[in-house]
Amino acid sequence: MLDYFAKRNFSIEQIPDLSGKIAIITGSSTGIGKVCALEMARKGCTVILACRNQEKTKTVVEEIKAETGNQNVDFIQLDLLKLDSVTKFAQEFKSRYTHLHILLNNAGVMMSPFALSEDGIESQFATNHVAHYYLTMLLLPVLEGSTPSRIVNVSSMAHNIHFKKLNLETISDPKKYNRTIHYAKSKTCNILFTRELTKRLEAKGSNVFVNANHPGIVASDLSRHIVGINSLGSYLYNKLLCISAEDGALTQLYLATSPDVENEKIKGKYYVPFANVQLPKGVASQDDTPLELWNFTENLLKEKVNGYEGAPI
Ligand SMILES: NC(=O)c1ccc[n+]([C@@H]2O[C@H](COP(=O)([O-])OP(=O)(O)OC[C@H]3O[C@@H](n4cnc5c(N)ncnc54)[C@H](OP(=O)(O)O)[C@@H]3O)[C@@H](O)[C@H]2O)c1
Repeated sequence: MLDYFAKRNFSIEQIPDLSGKIAIITGSSTGIGKVCALEMARKGCTVILACRNQEKTKTVVEEIKAETGNQNVDFIQLDLLKLDSVTKFAQEFKSRYTHLHILLNNAGVMMSPFALSEDGIESQFATNHVAHYYLTMLLLPVLEGSTPSRIVNVSSMAHNIHFKKLNLETISDPKKYNRTIHYAKSKTCNILFTRELTKRLEAKGSNVFVNANHPGIVASDLSRHIVGINSLGSYLYNKLLCISAEDGALTQLYLATSPDVENEKIKGKYYVPFANVQLPKGVASQDDTPLELWNFTENLLKEKVNGYEGAPI
């Protein structure tokens, strides 16, 4: 409810002309990601919808082309529950495009029942953190060759939910699974990853701007796994508590497109509705944890992906 009253520092009308820019948006078949794809296409951006469901996404691609008149709207299949799919996505992208200016790591799953990804990683951690980390590492050389470029990692205020440690060694253990805490941990990882990647890019003097955001409490399909919520409960939740997907898209559209990001050197930050900076809390604010997560994810990828040579930074 509070999101309604947040200060509005950005609006759809403020998205600049994006002609000549190329963007990838994960999870853009629906919800907040779909709004981002539509509005960025409207401003002339070449947009690649990185989604798992081909049939559903191809319909969205046609809708966006028809509404915006922009024919540079593309689909490349990406299933974040399969690291092999991430590898293939990056190969396909690089075969079609030479530049990448905006990587919007938006796809996510919340509070799902315990499941393992194809690679044996707990599914919320796998989708929300590991696959997006891997995707970013595969695309980082292209982003660095397209500077100034941007990465936006879509986190959540759920990172505030109290837990003491990430306990990464047992993250995929069904006996230790708590769907709420695991969601909170995966969204904490989005912020920790943003901080560590920024530190490394800064050390290199690279002009890739990496930031994280909470989109707001948004009416979307994300709440599908919340237990005990019946259709009336879901209707009331969406109507009374949530902002629209259009408003929910604003904060990440700001980080992905606003000239403020380069002009004010906005890097390694966490933004909340509507385009207001905030300090991350809890584990996401700790000093040692970004590197701890980075090293854990690197080792995990080396174990799970044949031929992964490590982060290019
Ligand atoms: N809605 C909120 O209140 C809220 C609050 C805080 C943060 N967020 C974050 O905002 C982001 C967008 O959420 P939303 O509200 O727009 O949710 P949504 O409507 O459920 O959309 C999520 C998107 O992620 C995709 N996705 C899920 N698993 C995937 C996988 N394995 N491979 C590829 N794509 C996958 C979905 O594809 P399918 O259609 O194929 O499932 C869908 O396109 C998420 O990262 C979420 O954590 C949302």
